[in-house]
Amino acid sequence: MTTLQVELGTRSYPIYIDSGILSNSDLLSSHIRSKRVCIVSNDIVAPLYAPTLKEALKHFDIDEVILPDGEAEKSLANFDVIMSHLLAGNHGRDTTLIALGGGVIGDITGFAAACYQRGIDFIQVPTTVLSQVDSSVGGKTAVNHPLGKNMIGAFYQPKAVFIDLASLKSLPAREFNAGISEVIKYGILGDGEFFTWLEQHTNDIKKGDTGTLAYMIERCCQCKADIVATDETESGVRALLNLGHTFGHAIEADQGYGKWLHGEAVATGMVLAAKLAVAMSLLEVSDLRRIEALLLAFDLPLVAPENMGFEEFICHMRRDKKNLAGKLRFILPTAIGQSEINDDVSEELLQQIL
Ligand code: NAD
Ligand code: GLY
Repeated sequence: MTTLQVELGTRSYPIYIDSGILSNSDLLSSHIRSKRVCIVSNDIVAPLYAPTLKEALKHFDIDEVILPDGEAEKSLANFDVIMSHLLAGNHGRDTTLIALGGGVIGDITGFAAACYQRGIDFIQVPTTVLSQVDSSVGGKTAVNHPLGKNMIGAFYQPKAVFIDLASLKSLPAREFNAGISEVIKYGILGDGEFFTWLEQHTNDIKKGDTGTLAYMIERCCQCKADIVATDETESGVRALLNLGHTFGHAIEADQGYGKWLHGEAVATGMVLAAKLAVAMSLLEVSDLRRIEALLLAFDLPLVAPENMGFEEFICHMRRDKKNLAGKLRFILPTAIGQSEINDDVSEELLQQIL
């Protein structure tokens, strides 16, 4: 088992990475402070993994909320479902929520934990590549709004993250690849050596080789933990983790949540950001080509939806959380393994790229 630590003073927490960790009763129990837990999951993941988790927690008083599957379910309506369930069950401040699922479940459960009785403990048990390398770490919690992605939420850290590599075996290929998009993101934004490693290990990753996946996930979590420890609430360097997301969130919201997977939208968003950087002479064309080739190796989309042009993008991007004083801010790659926050992109250039 690998253990990493997110260093945030009194709110520090461990990330455990192992195969079969879902049944590690002692370790799980050591992060639960009272008798009551409530598992939040969805109707795809719960049948697969809730029985193992419940067996590991059989000495606890276990309640559960099972939401319908899908990005569109990361909503205020389902936030209310969780709140109502907790209230109806007389859950107190000592209940621990356990998010069992991908980023959708992790984000909405974390937000519910942040709000219920002004904050209760929660544990992340991420079951997708994307949630294991990104969303379960760092305490960004949220629900979507029809007018914008992740627009209602809170920074609220979990008590621990349990990453079970074995859970990836049941993940559909399209979801697996979408998660790899966020993996590639780490390589582009700040770790050129890792990007090269990804280029060299594409086949092992696609085959699902456990050792390869363990290393890949560990490296991403370490990168994220380091960034979050430096800038928990995104006043600086954490914004780099949004590489590709300015365009990506616009695609997700415009197309309707769930049509494009988050990682797919981010992949196209990273290509658009790289094209912007090339047009501004910040990035070599050869680096753009490497980015495109690696994304393509995982069947990720490189081109924006046909029905989206400048107008469609810009109306969503004007609501981007990174904007300052009404000015659009982009994360632009300046090399493989290097990126910057840039608020100097002209609308003319954007129009040209989009
Ligand atoms: P997801 O949660 O929708 O999971 C993808 C699909 O896989 C779903 O259908 C799910 O039911 C299914 N699934 C999950 N685990 C499975 C398993 N082990 N076997 C079989 N099926 C499984 O999507 P995601 O890609 O995990 O997460 C995307 C979400 O994460 C988006 O809402 C995005 O905004 C959010 N996100 C948040 C952060 C953050 O920092 N909080 C970072 C990145 C993304
Ligand atoms: N996924 C972006 C962040 O956590 O900051």
